[in-house]
Amino acid sequence: MFPSCFFVLALLLRAEAWEWGLTPRKTVRYHGVSEVRQSWHSGVSQVMTLTLDENRGALYVGAREVIFSLDLNNIGKELRPPIIWEAPADKKLECAQKGKSNQTECFNYIRFLEQFNQTHLVTCGTYAFQPKCAYIELSDFTLDAENLEEGKGKVPYDPAKGHTGLILDGALYSATMNNFLGTEPVIQRIVGQHNLMKTEYLASWLNEPNFVSSAHIPESVGSEIGDDDKIYFFFTERALEYDCQSEQVVSRVARICKGDLGGARTLQRKWTSFLKARLLCSIPELQLNFNLLKSVFKLEAKEWRSTHFYAAFQARWGDSPVSAICQYSIQDIQKVFDGPYKEYREQSQKWGRYSDSVPSPRPGSCVTNWHRNHGVYSSLELPDNTLNFVKKHPLMDDSVMSTHMRPLLVRRGANFTTIAVQRTLGLDREPYDILFIGTENGWVNKAVSFGSTVHIIEELQVFDKSYPVHSLALSARKSLLFVGSQSGLVQLPFADCSKYRSCADCILARDPYCAWNINITRCVRADQRYRPILLQDIKDSDTSVCEVQSQKAVKPFVKNITVGIGTNVVLPCQLSSNLAQPIWTFNGQDLESDQDDSVLFDTTLQALVILGVGTHHSGCYVCYSEEQGTQLTAESYQLTVVASPSLILESRAPLDGLGLVWMMVIALGAVCLALFLAVVYLRRKLKDELEKGSKSMENTLVYPIKLPSQPKTPKCLPSADSDEKLWDPSSFYYSDGSLKIVPGHALCQNSTGSSSPSGNGIPGQPLPSPPLHSPNHMLLAGVRGSSSNGYIRLTLGGGVTEEHPQLGDLNEELRWKLKQRQALPDSNPEESSV
Ligand SMILES: *[C@@H]1O[C@H](CO)[C@@H](O)[C@H](O)[C@H]1NC(C)=O
Ligand SMILES: *[C@@H]1O[C@H](CO)[C@@H](O)[C@H](O)[C@H]1NC(C)=O
Ligand SMILES: *[C@@H]1O[C@H](CO)[C@@H](O)[C@H](O)[C@H]1NC(C)=O
Ligand SMILES: *[C@@H]1O[C@H](CO)[C@@H](O)[C@H](O)[C@H]1NC(C)=O
Ligand SMILES: *[C@@H]1O[C@H](CO)[C@@H](O)[C@H](O)[C@H]1NC(C)=O
Repeated sequence: MFPSCFFVLALLLRAEAWEWGLTPRKTVRYHGVSEVRQSWHSGVSQVMTLTLDENRGALYVGAREVIFSLDLNNIGKELRPPIIWEAPADKKLECAQKGKSNQTECFNYIRFLEQFNQTHLVTCGTYAFQPKCAYIELSDFTLDAENLEEGKGKVPYDPAKGHTGLILDGALYSATMNNFLGTEPVIQRIVGQHNLMKTEYLASWLNEPNFVSSAHIPESVGSEIGDDDKIYFFFTERALEYDCQSEQVVSRVARICKGDLGGARTLQRKWTSFLKARLLCSIPELQLNFNLLKSVFKLEAKEWRSTHFYAAFQARWGDSPVSAICQYSIQDIQKVFDGPYKEYREQSQKWGRYSDSVPSPRPGSCVTNWHRNHGVYSSLELPDNTLNFVKKHPLMDDSVMSTHMRPLLVRRGANFTTIAVQRTLGLDREPYDILFIGTENGWVNKAVSFGSTVHIIEELQVFDKSYPVHSLALSARKSLLFVGSQSGLVQLPFADCSKYRSCADCILARDPYCAWNINITRCVRADQRYRPILLQDIKDSDTSVCEVQSQKAVKPFVKNITVGIGTNVVLPCQLSSNLAQPIWTFNGQDLESDQDDSVLFDTTLQALVILGVGTHHSGCYVCYSEEQGTQLTAESYQLTVVASPSLILESRAPLDGLGLVWMMVIALGAVCLALFLAVVYLRRKLKDELEKGSKSMENTLVYPIKLPSQPKTPKCLPSADSDEKLWDPSSFYYSDGSLKIVPGHALCQNSTGSSSPSGNGIPGQPLPSPPLHSPNHMLLAGVRGSSSNGYIRLTLGGGVTEEHPQLGDLNEELRWKLKQRQALPDSNPEESSV
């Protein structure tokens, strides 16, 4: 009792200390992903299969009752009209009468779609619980609906059941459920209508399996022992070999020989080479086994001996889901199948290693030179004792261990569903494996593997709805990733290098697809042809290479903010990555938040919060994003605190010329459009808040928000053509006159550290650059230049949320903070915000 308690405690402590996985360096939300993605037919749901045909430049998509042929360059384009392949009404009715859902199940879900030969694809669908297969002629993309083939044993009846299969030399190798009830698992080989070989229907062979993946390995090529090709099947099943209470579902790899013809008397037309082993992915220190296999990707190499499998697993740790990626080498898998067998001991009613003598030829082996030398030319000539043994001992005693005996990557709080891997050469001419991992809530993680460690380059929110990613396909030739889910199909480039704005950011990304071009000072697609002018350091991410080049890093615009005394100010600092730390300076000096307790850095908000500003807070605030010792300027603010809002006098700024005016007009239009949407949103939000009767605070909060960078037509300016209106002094103020915000750039002398706050933006002083129009009914003051940064004023009671990932509950957070500091009088939030 006590020892076990201590043991559990020790485990918990270890879990506490265990480094739970990795943080993706960048998080790209849906709207960020949409800029680079191509999506297709958001209306079409249930993408079930993705089949690439790079030679024809096509992507075939099997969905519910329809098959598409899309252009690989742009999936928005259909190469051919889609094939509609519906289950007929009478079949659907029959299906519904058998108790299946006519809303979800009684359809023809395309579960299998593969190249069959040069001219045809073969496809199988669930066909309202009566599976059928058909050939598709590629030249005109038509399905031969007259000659449907039986689909039983090729795909499951139930669209929700696991299934895998592949085409090899005109034969279909499939692993599926063979009956309506989904209780009879089978792994078989079928040619046309003829079921040639299958698994024995025994629980020791397959026990409630869920099939995940299959792969053909041409092991006959260059084999010294004259070995046969093999087909591997990956699945989970209910384990018989453990005591009931312990782990029940385990992951497996099984294999069969391509040349297997079954036995002559024993195992007639059944596999004589069916062997299976446990596939282990675990963290030994925590005794955490990842048992739920979700996806396997075969990474082919020139030589089959270098083939690797990448597998995605799920498990639970306490209350939270954990997922892992494990890697397996074909050689490690082979070793296990050449090792000892497991056997059931009737007496002790336990499973254990079989240690008696093994019959010869070795049970489960393919027919090799050794067999041929001993007069066995096919499995039909295998002796009965060998066959009886393999029938009783399909399970190997050893488990297949993952490379390095541990997961390559672990993430807590994530459910991985799919994986696809691409090997690519870095500019250092080293091969790197790029892992694309789909999750249950519509995200894709992209990571680079360094053999034993991994770096997650980014996580991308590919789908706005939180549907599982259930298929991934890669086109190496086009460098494109295709992601399928219930809500549709999306095409993404392998990398969007333009998101790395500086050399250091580009290097720190460690993305083999990206490199810093010193000629054009931009992060671009890494191309071996331009190596001399490209910088990349995947292994060490050493940013000192950037200094060779005079750092033309993009200096952020200095944002001038003028506020009245007592205002609460939030200065966001968007860090270059999730791995970066913010460092703030005030007038060139490091800002420690304990110097002044009205200044706090909030990690969740990723912002500097100054509560109740005083005149001594005027000055230049610069935020650096520090990552691996490299500091990047992230934001600069010039804060001016004026004694009393009513003292602010406006001034008319000189106009540089009409060109500027027009630029302003366009920029303003864009801002207005964005604002209008924001206002509509805010109002609704506000109304909700009011209805909840939440208390509001009078204090005003200032913080810049990012606006869409590519505005369309300016819509909301009532008379954009009238310049007069643009510079109407009343537009400098909000209706309550409490706040004035002047947008624009400034040169902050952040290096010497003595920018004088006293000279700037003080009352009465002419403004060097024209302030922008702010419609009275709106919350925002303006925008400047192409950076499209505006400033928004928030009223705390007003309820504002913004799209930034971490700022969602900004308001809650601040309200709480402010409440803690000071009791504030209630006021009508509507008054100050509208
Ligand atoms: C599906 O079933 C529901 C009720 O079970 C029935 O009302 C509906 O008409 C059926 N739809 C079709 C298309 O058969
Ligand atoms: C491909 O398979 C289809 C269907 O069996 C057959 O009709 C066709 O002749 C085959 N084509 C070639 C080139 O073998
Ligand atoms: C992960 O899966 C578990 C169980 O399937 C589910 O309860 C949980 O909500 C999922 N979490 C995410 C983030 O998808
Ligand atoms: C670098 O830029 C210069 C001028 O912009 C151009 O002439 C030259 O071809 C570029 N070099 C390479 C390798 O692209
Ligand atoms: C912002 O303030 C700086 C420093 O006082 C000044 O040089 C700059 O012109 C101001 N910019 C605008 C647009 O007001």
